[in-house]
Amino acid sequence: MPPPNNFTFTETVAADAAGIARAAALIRAGQPVAVPTETVYGLAADATDGSAVARIYAAKGRPAFNPLIVHVADRAAAEALALFNPVALRLAEAFWPGPLTLVLPARAESSVAPLVMAGLETIAIRCPAHPAMRALLAACGRPLAAPSANASGTISPTTASHVLDSLGKRIPLVIDGGATAVGLESTIVAVLPGGLRLLRPGPITAEALGHATGLPVMLGTGERVEAPGQLASHYAPAKPLRLNATRPETNEWLIGFGPVAGDDTLSHPGDLVEAAANLFAALHRADSSASPRIAVAPIPEEGLGIAINDRLRRAAAPRP
Ligand code: TXA
Ligand code: MG
Repeated sequence: MPPPNNFTFTETVAADAAGIARAAALIRAGQPVAVPTETVYGLAADATDGSAVARIYAAKGRPAFNPLIVHVADRAAAEALALFNPVALRLAEAFWPGPLTLVLPARAESSVAPLVMAGLETIAIRCPAHPAMRALLAACGRPLAAPSANASGTISPTTASHVLDSLGKRIPLVIDGGATAVGLESTIVAVLPGGLRLLRPGPITAEALGHATGLPVMLGTGERVEAPGQLASHYAPAKPLRLNATRPETNEWLIGFGPVAGDDTLSHPGDLVEAAANLFAALHRADSSASPRIAVAPIPEEGLGIAINDRLRRAAAPRP
């Protein structure tokens, strides 16, 4: 493991040709750079270079057993890394480019550094839709490993300033592409011989996966922790958080939704897409408010609300 990354400052560049070229040069030199995707900002490095990947773990302070998602430009690049059965092909056709990560058997001859998979025989792959990430993949001409661009266990970043708050001086560069459109990490689904298992709920719902494949979708609630995103307190703000609050208690910062008005709101009209896009920014604002505790209004357990509640339950879980 290289020593913890330490830079005198973190350069911010625009998501234009010059910015992408600068970021690609750093990636080719083995550095991780932060880049917007349609879900959250990612911390991207050359997935074929073990020490570049190690710098991701170092910058995030991430437990080394957490495997990373590999981002590719297209399905051909994905098929060079993993074995696609007909179900996996159908999912890629239906949802790529977009916020769906497929967990598939890794090809033994794949060029990806073993550290990316953290010892697993499967690989998590996603073909992202965001133009800045797509331009970076094209400029680098190789798969990019990219977890969310935040210190391990903290709130995922949806703006360049969230990235700088969490990883400033620990990474050399962030591409500023504005706020991300979706605001929630990708859906992760394992394609198994017996069907699909949802490892992390996200923007692509279980219903949509079932509809595209005609297969039942098992929920990832087995005893084995298959994705560390399932660890009880993975998505944690610094302060205690109370769920299903309809009014604030003393010293609480209330994040509202729909009719529940608070110090802040995920969506005044009660729109779950708007709420998902606002979620992590609202948690960041709550963390930096003067109140010592956070409360969140009830969110309906339907559609994107399932993924939002998954994140909120983890954020509220007791700390290890
Ligand atoms: O939207 C996203 O997916 C964002 C953007 C940047 O693409 N990335 C992201 O990555 O959320 P990360 O590293 O924060 O989350 C990756 C999740 C982790 O829970 C990890 O354990 C799981 O994917 N994962 C990776 N490889 C896996 C594998 N082979 N089997 C099961 N889970 C895996
Ligand atoms: Mg993360």
